[in-house]
Amino acid sequence: MGYKIDFNESIPDMINRLKQEHVEFGLTLNNITKYNDENNINEAIETIHGMSELIIKHVVEEEARIMRIIMHNAKEESADSIKIMQEHNWVVDFLKHKLQNMGDEIHQRDKHLQQELEQEQEIRRQIREFITNLRNHFLEEQIIFPLALKTYSS
Ligand SMILES: [Fe+2]
Ligand SMILES: [Fe+2]
Repeated sequence: MGYKIDFNESIPDMINRLKQEHVEFGLTLNNITKYNDENNINEAIETIHGMSELIIKHVVEEEARIMRIIMHNAKEESADSIKIMQEHNWVVDFLKHKLQNMGDEIHQRDKHLQQELEQEQEIRRQIREFITNLRNHFLEEQIIFPLALKTYSS
């Protein structure tokens, strides 16, 4: 993944920043939960999309720097950390693939709804046109009936 990692940032500084990012991600997740509960799927997807670059960068930094330190300095205690780092697989898979598919499906559905709306409007237009024309036709026939009556009586 082509994310530039700042190897000059000290490990304590980086850990503080990553912790701060967890807090900020948490706030954004609250918003996404709210949008999702309100059935505002577009906004939920849009918001996840908006945070995905930062999460992926965060994940890469954890693996490239934090895990490296652990593997070098605390390998015998690294089992749990390795397991937790493997969770990055579903995080990144969701952000890179599933989210895109969800977005495409929603887009397709919106397009479909738009088409249905247009079809419905066209049908309503045709019904209005039929009613107008039929009313007009009845008006036009007002000259036929007197003519027929006149012809019949003479
Ligand atoms: Fe993290
Ligand atoms: Fe992580």
